Parts: sequence; C-alpha cells; structure tokens
Amino acid sequence: MFRHDIENSARKKKSNVILALDLGVDRPQQLLTRSLRILNATHEHLCALKLNRQAVLPLGLFDGVQKIIQRAKELKLPTIMDAKINDIGNTNRAIAEYYYKAGFDAVIASPFVGWNEGLQPVFEVAQKMNRGVIVLVYMSHKGAVEGYGQIVQDVDTGQLVPQYKVFAEKALKWKADGAVVGATYPEKIREIHSVLKDKVAIYSPGVGTQGGDAEAAVKGGADYLIVGRSIVEAEDPARKVAQIRDVAWQSLKHRGKIKQNKK
Ligand code: XMP
Repeated sequence: MFRHDIENSARKKKSNVILALDLGVDRPQQLLTRSLRILNATHEHLCALKLNRQAVLPLGLFDGVQKIIQRAKELKLPTIMDAKINDIGNTNRAIAEYYYKAGFDAVIASPFVGWNEGLQPVFEVAQKMNRGVIVLVYMSHKGAVEGYGQIVQDVDTGQLVPQYKVFAEKALKWKADGAVVGATYPEKIREIHSVLKDKVAIYSPGVGTQGGDAEAAVKGGADYLIVGRSIVEAEDPARKVAQIRDVAWQSLKHRGKIKQNKK
C-alpha cells in the first residue's frame, strides 16, 4: 500500500524529502540524462520521487519516463505523479489508470471536481491496483487564496467555511493517502493538521525557491516535503538535499513523530 511504502522508505532512509525532478531542459535526451544523473546523486537522502508534466510531456509516459521509473524502482523509491487530475470521472479514471500502468505508485488529484463522477473513479482504480491518491488541500503559490482560500458554503452542513477546510474533511472522508498543503503557508499546515490529526499525511511543496521554510512546515504538521528547484538547480544537489533532509528529519523528531534512538 502506497502510504505504508512511503512511510517505510522514510524510516529506512531517515528522510521525509521527496524530490520533484523538474528540470528546465528542452531537449528530451539531455533532460533524461540529467534527470537520471540528479536522481543517482541524491537518492540516498530521499524517501520518494515526484514527476510532473514538464518531464512526462517531453519524455513520453511509456518512453523516457519508463527509464526514470525503472531507476527509482531499483533504488526502492516510491514514485508520485503530480497529475493534479481534475476532469470528469470517466476521463479521470483513464488518466489515473495510465499513470498507474506506467508504474507510478501514487497520483495527485484535485478535489474541486468532487466525488460523484469526479474523483470516485480515481479512488476505485487506486484500490483495484493497490496504489495511492493524494489530494490538493491548499496549494503553495500566491494565487492559492483565490480558490483554496475562499469562504464557501459547505454543501453538507450549510456552514460558511474556508474551502481548504472542506477539502481537508474530504481527504479524511475519502481516505486519501495524503493531502497537499503548501510549505509557504505554515499556519495553514497547522490548521489543516488539526483537522487531519495524522490520519492523512501532509505533503508540503514550496520549500526554498517558493519561500517556504522546511523547519516551520514540518513543525506545523507536514509529514513530507516536496522539493524541486532548490535541489535540482543547486551547484551540489546531493549536499543541498542532505541539508534539507537534516533540518526536516530533526523537525519530525521534535514533533515526536520519530522515536529518539530507534533503529
Ligand atoms: P519547487 O521547485 O517549487 O517545486 O520546489 C515544487 C514542485 O511541487 C509542485 N507543486 C505542487 N504540487 N500542489 C501540488 O500538487 C501544490 O500546491 C504544489 N506546489 C508546487 C510543483 O509543480 C513542482 O513540481
């Protein structure tokens, strides 16, 4: 099961850092070579790997991407496809199925489409294929407030609540494997963590380049950090990821998530 696999990976590697392998390289062969080089250089400090469409579109899901997934499997790193699935159910099902068939262990999906004829088919496919679904709850960029931060009337309770709180409740109800909350909003992480209560893990992108702080995010309740440009654009990606890993792992210990001196 995805959530256990990534937990085990984190424990074994003593790392809760997920590498977002987003490179600003146009030529597919160069992109593949550099992606593999960075993965090989950093894997010891990672608990998982995340790809985005800026890798899948130029490399091809059943072409170059296969080489990255295969390498991640050799390194025993779970893989996440940041697909932000966001269409009608029938299309969502097909999208999730393709990513799972390609070898991804989990996909990221948007709860804005709802359950019925929205994300339900994605969760069904995930269960059938024993994979994971992570849902967006509050994104890391500045414009997130315009959607995730709106005050809305909850269709179930009739109450006026922030959109992200409704999404956090849905992540619980749908038994999602994770909830994405931007590291750029540590106060939102704290608030959402108080709803999720460690029943759904928090995945937090936005550390470094987008301005988020690893320690604040993890101490607020983030279980995993998703980090891209700060690592891949660093002069020494392995050193950079090790630095972030040390801070994040210490912060998890501080939260009592890791037992001190436990092997
Ligand atoms: P950087 O370079 O900013 O990359 O460290 C972050 C990676 O994470 C993705 N990202 C998000 N994915 N919800 C997501 O599902 C978010 O709120 C979010 N914010 C950033 C981004 O596309 C990149 O791959």
